[in-house]
Amino acid sequence: MSTSIESVLQENRVFNPSPEFMAQANVSGMDAYKALCAEAEADYEGYWGRLAREHIVWKQPFSTVLDESGAPFYKWFPDGKLNVSYNCLDKNVEAGLGDKVAIIFEADKGEVTKVTYSELLSKVAKFANALKNLGVKKGDRVVIYLPMSVEGVVAMQACARIGATHSVVFGGFSAQSLRDRIEDAGAVLIITADEQCRGGKNIPLKPAVDEALTLGGTDSIRNVIVYKRTGGPAVMVEGRDLWWDDVVAGQSDVCEPEWVEAEHPLFLLYTSGSTGKPKGVQHSTGGYLLHAVLTMKWTFDLKPDDVFWCTADIGWVTGHTYITYGPLACGGTEIVFEGVPTFPDAGRFWRMIQDHKVNIFYTAPTAIRSLIKAADGNPDVAHPKNFDLTSLRVLGSVGEPINPEAWMWYHEHIGGGRCPVMDTFWQTETGGHVITPLPGVTPLVPGSCTLPFPGIMVSVVDEAGHDVEWGKGGFLVIKRPWPSMIRTIWNDPERFKKSYFPEDLGGKLYLAGDGAVRDATTGYFTIMGRIDDVLNVSGHRMGTMEIESALVSHPLVAEAAVVGKPHDIKGEAIVAYVVLKRARPVGDEAKQIVNELRNHVGHEIGPIAKPDEIRFGDNLPKTRSGKIMRRLLRTLAKGEEITSDVSTLENPHILEQLKEVVK
Ligand code: WT7
Repeated sequence: MSTSIESVLQENRVFNPSPEFMAQANVSGMDAYKALCAEAEADYEGYWGRLAREHIVWKQPFSTVLDESGAPFYKWFPDGKLNVSYNCLDKNVEAGLGDKVAIIFEADKGEVTKVTYSELLSKVAKFANALKNLGVKKGDRVVIYLPMSVEGVVAMQACARIGATHSVVFGGFSAQSLRDRIEDAGAVLIITADEQCRGGKNIPLKPAVDEALTLGGTDSIRNVIVYKRTGGPAVMVEGRDLWWDDVVAGQSDVCEPEWVEAEHPLFLLYTSGSTGKPKGVQHSTGGYLLHAVLTMKWTFDLKPDDVFWCTADIGWVTGHTYITYGPLACGGTEIVFEGVPTFPDAGRFWRMIQDHKVNIFYTAPTAIRSLIKAADGNPDVAHPKNFDLTSLRVLGSVGEPINPEAWMWYHEHIGGGRCPVMDTFWQTETGGHVITPLPGVTPLVPGSCTLPFPGIMVSVVDEAGHDVEWGKGGFLVIKRPWPSMIRTIWNDPERFKKSYFPEDLGGKLYLAGDGAVRDATTGYFTIMGRIDDVLNVSGHRMGTMEIESALVSHPLVAEAAVVGKPHDIKGEAIVAYVVLKRARPVGDEAKQIVNELRNHVGHEIGPIAKPDEIRFGDNLPKTRSGKIMRRLLRTLAKGEEITSDVSTLENPHILEQLKEVVK
């Protein structure tokens, strides 16, 4: 666990919502919050049923709210039918919002394109018809490997429209990772682009698809649709590969939505766990959509005239819920940004907020920390003081703990001291926010994600699943099923049960995988970091076992152990301890092998998984029974002295070797 309980509990700054903010808030005042929580407490199904009827348009109304008969495979609104794309597009056009801008797309080099709700509906319908024309049917899996683009949103919405289950793979993942996900999902089609544009450079994307499809296990793929982003070189395989524009040409812009059951899988999204194999987190249609809408309205206080900007990539769950689905299902206007925060300079985000008059801004602590550094180093260009940020009303943070210093800077320099900062805790598995302040309700304490979203029954328990006292650390759990929860792990229901509803805790509590503590007086939650072998590197979730498997797949490597260490900007950095099949390398040779291994991991998983540091040993520190002592490796990674008793170690002399970092 990365944060110490003491440092959290020492925080005593409190920021109350202003009267002006409260006067206009969708949920205003602690009494309103408590009333919602009390309603859920008193009649859980009544509460969620009411919200599902008020916030979603159903083709066929549901009569059952929650079916627990197959627990922990819960079903929400099981006899209801709906379509997510209808709720995001047609509903808004029918309500007279056809000419309203849905998406403001800003390209890497700054070009701006606006797409209205009518235009977006037409693009989605045409692309949906193109998919149908290629034989894609309800329930088929479609892999999307696209850069940040209007097309990315269109592709996801088109799948939702025809009931195909999408599985978006982040464009930074390698061919090998892509292959693994295609095979596990049994996908019939891939949607990709020729190249992606980031930081002023064009980076090929299609070659990774071509490579993935030569690695075996991908016979389920019939076609690859390629969106021409740059017109750069792309090899098209005859009979398999088709250009986006060609498949769309001549398609009707009318496509009747496929009305699916509320439990129909809207998407799979692969995420890291504590084994080497990523898990295909399966989400539903109805319950997921409900939470996307509710959190937009309550956590972000979204209003009809707002411009909303979530800076995540659609390859992560944040991009799914808060780019592709949530803002559109609320009829909002949102920014889709292709580029990176540091191009053409580190003032990019602040300039875009100014230019587009963004009202609600949602980003990750790692981005904030790197922009603080850039602002300090380059105050005339990169500092937010150079921009007019007065349009902002609400700020959000997501993906990792936000340290109080970064929180204060964000609040003061971006939010002008007037915008509440929503530190939203959630996970790929939870579909949307589960612990978060509400901006017109919650007194804010930097470093705490504060209180549960109304209706989500969060708690902190001990090893036996019993609530711990406030002020004591424990496992973060959710005590009752909630509408937007993970439904299963694709192809692996047993792993779903074992990972999330472990028997040690009684089999009924959802185990988030994070440690947490509640403040002894306020009950506010603070997240203490993962309790499993999962790292959080720049807000990206990485399994240590995945990186270890990648390392040992290199012919030189006999054994590897990966741990995290605190990093100023990234939150956590990846440290790998490696034993080679040959003598421990030193000097230039060690450097050369480090390079080779880093590139190898980049090739196996993606650049985000490259170890920041590699250390070589003749062996790893092991107990006499052969268990690797990771605790010691973490201490060494931090550069700290080992003070605990190492007499149970088989090979204590190894520790000296493992202090040496190859630079
Ligand atoms: C893990 C989930 C949430 C969507 C993006 C990441 C960490 C997430 C916070 C926060 C402290 C946080 C947790 C969690 N995390 N948000 N506000 N404060 N930690 O989704 O990739 O599924 O990762 O990210 O460790 O378990 P994810």
